[in-house]
Formats: sequence, structure tokens, C-alpha cells
Amino acid sequence: MTNTDAIVVNKVKESKITTTDFDNLTFGKTFTDHMLECTWRDGKWETVEIKPYGPIQVEPSCKVFHYGQAIFEGMKAFKDAEGDVFLFRPEDNWNRFNESAKRLAMPEVPKEIFIAGLKELVHLDKEWVRYGEGLSLYLRPFMISSENGVAAAPATEYKFMIIMSPAFAYYKGDVRVIIASEFSRAADGGVGYAKAAGNYAASFYPNNLALEEGYQQIIWTDAASHEYLEEAGTMNIFVRIGDTLLTAPNNDRILNGVTRRSVMQMATDHGITVEERRVSVKELRDAANEGTLKEIFGSGTAAVIVPIKGFKHKDFVHELPVLDNSYATTLMGALKDIQYNRSEDKHGWRVKV
Ligand SMILES: Cc1ncc(COP(=O)(O)O)c(C=O)c1O
Repeated sequence: MTNTDAIVVNKVKESKITTTDFDNLTFGKTFTDHMLECTWRDGKWETVEIKPYGPIQVEPSCKVFHYGQAIFEGMKAFKDAEGDVFLFRPEDNWNRFNESAKRLAMPEVPKEIFIAGLKELVHLDKEWVRYGEGLSLYLRPFMISSENGVAAAPATEYKFMIIMSPAFAYYKGDVRVIIASEFSRAADGGVGYAKAAGNYAASFYPNNLALEEGYQQIIWTDAASHEYLEEAGTMNIFVRIGDTLLTAPNNDRILNGVTRRSVMQMATDHGITVEERRVSVKELRDAANEGTLKEIFGSGTAAVIVPIKGFKHKDFVHELPVLDNSYATTLMGALKDIQYNRSEDKHGWRVKV
């Protein structure tokens, strides 16, 4: 056991890496040798521990099971040709994590724990970050209320943890979507802008219905009128009409995506006109009918950019054209080049581990 800068590190005796089949990974099923754990009790964060990945013990009355105080982040580490490992805009995730914490009445996690802990953990398991197109290490910081007792009130004890999973490209196959006209993922004044676990639970049932109809994702619309596009499943949404790239402005129902901000910057860098404004379903359908709707894509950490092949809204069904020079392909390439340290990092997004 070693104690480096207040992080206690307890290493595994034998790594699982030699028995891990990296060619046949299922997303999010395999975890690296170590995890990070830190408990908040009596109003303060205790010692940060890095220890072997494994079960944690909680009682059945643990508050997270009853009142759902649970938040998380999704981020990635990438390896370059020289074997150096980089995080992508980690402070953006740290900031968003604390915004989620605030909204769920949970304690904020200081930078010395979130960022320093993340770097130490990734560094320790850096052999698990594989080099190659689409390969990365998916990082999952999360926090749960860990106090025992079923009184409906914010907990007095929380656990902040980080687990890590080797990943390939997330989505496989074509993605077609249904535009929501009945269900909502988030409400005005609610927690949609937070990465709260419950937001995902609430989306599974409508998503199952979409899957039964042969659609892989739902385009979420505003809860009040279902007239404006908001998110593409668990991604932010981009629509290309003519040569202009449109994306919904952030509000309290939309997760403020790190990839979205990066895509907007990359597009501007490439001379593409980006408009951050409300896009109505009517505008989308009119553009589809007029032939000016060229692309729809989602942006998110898991897959960077996911082109959408077609959509359904009520009884209107439309297939997107196949383009030679799509914005999706250009912007995905530009972002990956930064993530894998293949191009100049003009905006200072890479953080070496
Ligand atoms: C609901 C939702 N919207 C958007 C995103 C995209 O955010 P980011 O680009 O920060 O991964 C995510 C997460 O990936 C998400 O869960």
C-alpha cells in the first residue's frame, strides 16, 4: 500500500489484463484492475482510496435504492501512437458533475479528488487503454447516497467512485429514430440538465417501445409542446439544413454536452455556419419535403458522432440522403484527431495523464 499526495493506493496482486479478451469486449461489461472510492461523512470528504475493482457493501436501507440520489459522468481516455495517454476536456466533466450534485442536493467533489484521482487511476491502469481506431478507456465517475435509513431526506453520507471499462466504438449498425410526440425525458424546472441516474431510467420504457417499432433511439422534444427538437437519445442533436448546422440551445431539460461544444467549435474552425437555436419538428419535416435536409446526427462521448439514417414523426417517415462529404464524417475525423493526439490541440482540450 502506498500513499501518494493523500491518495491511498492498494494495488491488485495480479492484473486481470492478461486474461482479458480485448477483441471480444461488450461495451461496459469489463472493468480494469482498480477503482477509486471516497466517502463524504460528517460534512467532509475522507481519504481517497484506489483499490482493486470489486463489490461494495451496502445495506438494503441504503438511501440510493429508495430516493435515487445518484449522478454520474461519462468520459474517455485515449492512447496515441507513442503510448501516451490523454483525457479529453476533463474539467468540463468535473464542472458538470458538480452542477448535477448541486441539483440533487449532494456534496460537490473538489478538483483534488475528481481530477487528481482520475489521473492517478488512469495512470495506474494505463495498460488498459489500447491504441487503435475507436479504442479508448471509458471512465465512469459516479456518486450515490450511501447513508442507511428510509427517511425521505437528503443523505448525510455519500460515496464518490470511479470505475473504468475498455471500450470500442459504442454504436453498431444504422440508427433510425422516432421523434417523441407523447413521452418526455425531462420536465421544465426538473433535472434534465443533470446527469442524474433517474433520467436514464425514465427513458428506458419509451425507448423499448421505439425498439419494438424498429427504431434505435428517440429524438426528445420539449415537454410542453413536443414541437421542438432537444436531444437525440443519450446524445445532443445536430441538424444540417442546406449548409447550415443547427443545434438546440441548452436549457434545463438538456444535458450540456462536452462533445456538442467541441463539435460546434470544430465546425466553426472548418468554416461551417453553426446556429444555436430552436429547431421545430415542422421545420425538419418541411426541409425533408423540400430536399434541403441533408444530415441529422447525435453527439456524445460514447460514439463522438452518430449519423442518423432516418426518422419517423407520427405518420411521417423519412430517409436521409447518403452524402459523400458529410459534416458528420468531417467533424468526427477532426475531433478524433485531437483525442488521439494526431493533430494540433488549438483549444487546449487534451490533458496528458
Ligand atoms: C442525455 C445525454 N445527452 C447528451 C449527452 C452527450 O454529452 P457528452 O458529449 O458530454 O458526452 C449525454 C452523454 O453522453 C447524455 O447522456
